[in-house]
Amino acid sequence: GDDDATPGSVAGAVGFPHAPDTDLAVAADRHLLRSAVRAWTVPDGSSGAGGASGRPAAPPRPDPDHAVVVVDTRGVDAAVARVAAAGRTWGALDAATRAGILRRAAEELAHRRAELVGVMVAEAGKTVAEADPEVSEAVDFARYYADRALELDSVRGATHAPGPGITLVTPPWNFPISIPVGAALAALAAGTGVLVKPAPQTPRCARVAFAAVHAALDAAGAPLDALLVAECPEGDVGRHLATHDGVARVLLTGSIDTARLFATWRPDRDVLAETSGKNAIVVTPSADVDLAVADVVRSAFGHAGQKCSAASLLVLVGSAGFDDRLRRQLADAVTSLPVGPAEDPRTVVGPLIDAPHGDLLRALTTLDPGEEWLVQPRRLADRLWTPGVRHGVVAGSWFHRTECFGPVLGVVRVATLDEAIAVQNAVPFGLTGGLHSLDEHEIERWLGAVEVGNAYVNRTITGAVVARQPFGGWKQSVVGPGAKAGGPHYVAQIGSWSDAPGVP
Ligand code: ALA
Repeated sequence: GDDDATPGSVAGAVGFPHAPDTDLAVAADRHLLRSAVRAWTVPDGSSGAGGASGRPAAPPRPDPDHAVVVVDTRGVDAAVARVAAAGRTWGALDAATRAGILRRAAEELAHRRAELVGVMVAEAGKTVAEADPEVSEAVDFARYYADRALELDSVRGATHAPGPGITLVTPPWNFPISIPVGAALAALAAGTGVLVKPAPQTPRCARVAFAAVHAALDAAGAPLDALLVAECPEGDVGRHLATHDGVARVLLTGSIDTARLFATWRPDRDVLAETSGKNAIVVTPSADVDLAVADVVRSAFGHAGQKCSAASLLVLVGSAGFDDRLRRQLADAVTSLPVGPAEDPRTVVGPLIDAPHGDLLRALTTLDPGEEWLVQPRRLADRLWTPGVRHGVVAGSWFHRTECFGPVLGVVRVATLDEAIAVQNAVPFGLTGGLHSLDEHEIERWLGAVEVGNAYVNRTITGAVVARQPFGGWKQSVVGPGAKAGGPHYVAQIGSWSDAPGVP
């Protein structure tokens, strides 16, 4: 759709320079990140309490918590009221002021890069190589949505504010900085107050990130309560928050089950959710096998496969000879992946967020009829597993259609590209998908038929880039209007929703 087009005239004319990731070849920068990681993962300076299977036992340093309220049910009412009151002041600011504060937030986030990387490694089990680009993405979101705030007000008029209701942001633990920061700053760009309820696994990531945003609000003399972080239990208190009258809209990123629950709680259309995926990369015999294997491995096992965008299926088109070669290379590449604690700089596949259970445990331990292990996963610790590859996955089977959210890839063999596309599309979700092919007719046919929000040719299928590759799904991967994150319509969608129907 036109979500993929070059962003609007302002950004399009001047381009959108992205925040650079840390160059780990530069010793000083590498050491800076290493010492930040150590500060968060070694609480008493003597032992690595994080390690392969544990989280740090105690906060290693005072939490910057002025953005945070810890709430029970009554506390929810008070927090919503505080955000609503400050949100009115915030919404009355002109777009240039809001945009300036978002740009300052980008600077504050960039300034805290090492600290943000450290807390992600410690709390979410991300490697530095996975965590560092997430900071870049958060900085990009802040600057990109600042531009969109200016655009939006030029369309709808500077005096329009989206009304009294606040925006509730409920992010996941797997991108504990970029997703909450992106959604919250989009809502601020649209002129609404924001309450963020961090994932229960990653509250300190939210604390550090939103301390940066608060620093930007503070520097401008803007009301700090326009953005609060509410740490609350999931059950009744969470439901009270999600169904609160003062919450005009919810920006949710999480599993399809969570999104369904929210949709039941809020039967109107004011839930925007990006949910699950069951994402496949198709490889045809025309592909560069070396590149294809490298991209499949990175897409499947980055952050131990714990991404909604991760590759979970490899659909292999073609002859036995091609299949044998690719299979051998894939097995070697997967077996060679260093598995270990997130804080170890050699690690590529780090720990799982929790010991596997349910679908993931089944995927790691139990084959279905017709399948064999190309690489059998091994449990090194409760939360640390070597990655696995199931070969001979049957179209229509349990693994074909189920999101497992961990380090398991399934290989499906088919005879033709059309069959491969049918396998790729025969899942309930439509988030990301990839093709490796050097045949332009194959590429054209695939692009015209694949049912995913983000379709990638000859690259990884994770790691969407703000402004260049707005991120979002299709089919059951999305609930609500569906404008993509990091794309030209995401902020406008928040502003126009519920309070001002009909605004473009
Ligand atoms: N935006 C994340 C990615 O593209 C989920 O991998």
